[in-house]
Amino acid sequence: MKKRVTKAIFPVAGLGTRFLPATKSIPKEIMTLVDRPLIQYAIDEAREAGIKEFIFVTAKGKGALEDYFDAAPELEKALRKKNKTDLLQELKATDMDSGAIAYIRQREALGLGHAVWCARRLIGNEPFAVILPDDVISAEKSCLLQMVQQYEETRGNIVAAMEVSNEQVSSYGIIDPAEDMGQIVAVRDMAEKPAPAEAPSNLAVIGRYILEPSVLKRLSTLKRGSGDEIQLTDAIAAEAREEGNVFGYRFDGQRYDCGSKIGYLKATIAFGLARDDLKEELADFLDGAIARRRAAE
Ligand code: G1P
Repeated sequence: MKKRVTKAIFPVAGLGTRFLPATKSIPKEIMTLVDRPLIQYAIDEAREAGIKEFIFVTAKGKGALEDYFDAAPELEKALRKKNKTDLLQELKATDMDSGAIAYIRQREALGLGHAVWCARRLIGNEPFAVILPDDVISAEKSCLLQMVQQYEETRGNIVAAMEVSNEQVSSYGIIDPAEDMGQIVAVRDMAEKPAPAEAPSNLAVIGRYILEPSVLKRLSTLKRGSGDEIQLTDAIAAEAREEGNVFGYRFDGQRYDCGSKIGYLKATIAFGLARDDLKEELADFLDGAIARRRAAE
């Protein structure tokens, strides 16, 4: 029987320095988009894709993230007493089954590839997903579910892909396409954060992956790459070159780079405008702010 994707790795060990001083005392994955922490969006997306085991690769200072997934019986009791059923339901939606979450410590910040490799024993010999919570993707059908369905057809390694501008290629893993079939792109090779002049294309890897366990074996060489870090991109690129089993998947949906301030602000506005209880007042405010800015120019 073909193996299903039921495990996902969430690398959450990063320091979040781009959001200092906020991240001095809170993990960036706990920062909120409207009223939910970034990590909740990632979890919900994984659940929609059928993920049953959630593996967090954490580091020092991420205690608040672990606490977030604890049961909150006192809070629930207080809400129940006050008949706040809506809030109770909101809270229930964050419940995780006992044993569904595992935490692994990355002892040294050696890069994304190293973080994924830290979870190798929990993955074993199964295909698995990797979700980078900084990349928030709003879509009718969750991006990871789209990829899982693609995986059931093609198998192999699948990376989410999106066109970026020339100036942006040096912030991403970039695909060297062998064959472009539209939604799916067969990958010949990949480069991590290339200079614009050296980029093989404009097709960037976004933080959703479905990977075969062979990628973990490749990571175990612990070879350093771009930025002197152990890069996930390099291990997947080796699969592409040697096995020819890597595909880029142009997902349907809007991606927000919540690892940057501007991306975070855009996501906050977009998610606010998508909420029935907030959209009117927020849109009025934005209209007014834009009008004032124009008048001042
Ligand atoms: C990571 C990956 C990169 C990928 C990006 C997507 O980079 O190394 O290949 O394109 O995520 O967001 P980071 O943004 O963590 O530097």
